Amino acid sequence: SPSDPDLVERARAAKEKLGDKVFVLGHHYQRDEVIQFADVTGDSFKLARDAAAKPEAEYIVFCGVHFMAESADILTGDDQKVVLPDLAAGCSMADMATAEQVAECWDVLTEAGVAEQVVPVSYMNSSADIKAFTGKHGGTICTSSNAKKALDWAFEQGEKVLFLPDQHLGRNTAVRDMGMSLDDCVVYNPHKPNGGLTAEELRAAKMILWRGHCSVHGRFSLDSVNDVRERIPGVNVLVHPECKHEVVAAADYVGSTEYIIKTLEAAPAGSKWAIGTELNLVRRLANRFADEGKEIVFLDKTVCFCSTMNRIDLPHLVWTLESLAEGNLVNQISVDRETESFAKLALERMLALP
Ligand code: 13P
Ligand code: SF4
Repeated sequence: SPSDPDLVERARAAKEKLGDKVFVLGHHYQRDEVIQFADVTGDSFKLARDAAAKPEAEYIVFCGVHFMAESADILTGDDQKVVLPDLAAGCSMADMATAEQVAECWDVLTEAGVAEQVVPVSYMNSSADIKAFTGKHGGTICTSSNAKKALDWAFEQGEKVLFLPDQHLGRNTAVRDMGMSLDDCVVYNPHKPNGGLTAEELRAAKMILWRGHCSVHGRFSLDSVNDVRERIPGVNVLVHPECKHEVVAAADYVGSTEYIIKTLEAAPAGSKWAIGTELNLVRRLANRFADEGKEIVFLDKTVCFCSTMNRIDLPHLVWTLESLAEGNLVNQISVDRETESFAKLALERMLALP
């Protein structure tokens, strides 16, 4: 739907008043009404790199979710303030791994005698606490655009990986990109004693996958892939690696949001695509490429927006920019120093991957 013209004008005026003092980052899953005010857009990897690109900006307004704003705070200078326009914009996947649960898991691995061989690899979609745990235990962060590189690196450091918190990205990368088998992977369930695993299972596994998933991508099913192939002959199925393994295995192309965009940019006119990722992005891409004769549909109409990404809307953005323009710092996301130092270690290992 078109944005309210009054709000558009107010956001524009507040942003102009702030000038170089503000730098607005927008994740690809954000609403159109918000994306139009982003100075840079990207997937979570690109935004983590770009966050530090404007050190003169006093305020970094992060249009995305909480873990992304935390990462931006960790990677930017102490004098830069990161602001999240709605503090309720969390991520259900990130919430599936708490610091206490992960500490308990490490005890289980230690008891089983495998902790010394384990390197943690944590998906960007995790809290700063989990990133700090990862840094402390010699591990790295990854995103969906560099998960294979992160796993290659981790298997040079140790024999096993504890992959947090998205089981699907971990499994898909191990099996699809690294040639491991499904039997090399076990799932650690934080709600069961010992993660629901025996010491023997932990000793045999190469990939210990945390039992977390994305509430949006996890809903695409093998049926949705089969249905769309029947409905649209010749369609190319392109999905995000947060989808279930059976969906990824049945797809033609798999990759991060940035990869999805690049693939569609390079696609020939007349080609047909069914996309399995967040709906704001798919709609934007469908509109953008319609003129070039590329037919783009959403993989499964019963799946909807990421509700927490959608919490950032134009009214929240206007309120944030106007508050900052009046000198009121609102909704600051600030990671404590101790957590920050270990989390930064893990994030910098990621940024140093080849
Ligand atoms: P990417 O930005 O790495 O593609 O991740 C998708 C996602 O779910 C972000 O919340
Ligand atoms: Fe979290 Fe999934 Fe939403 Fe991304 S799309 S913020 S992983 S719930």
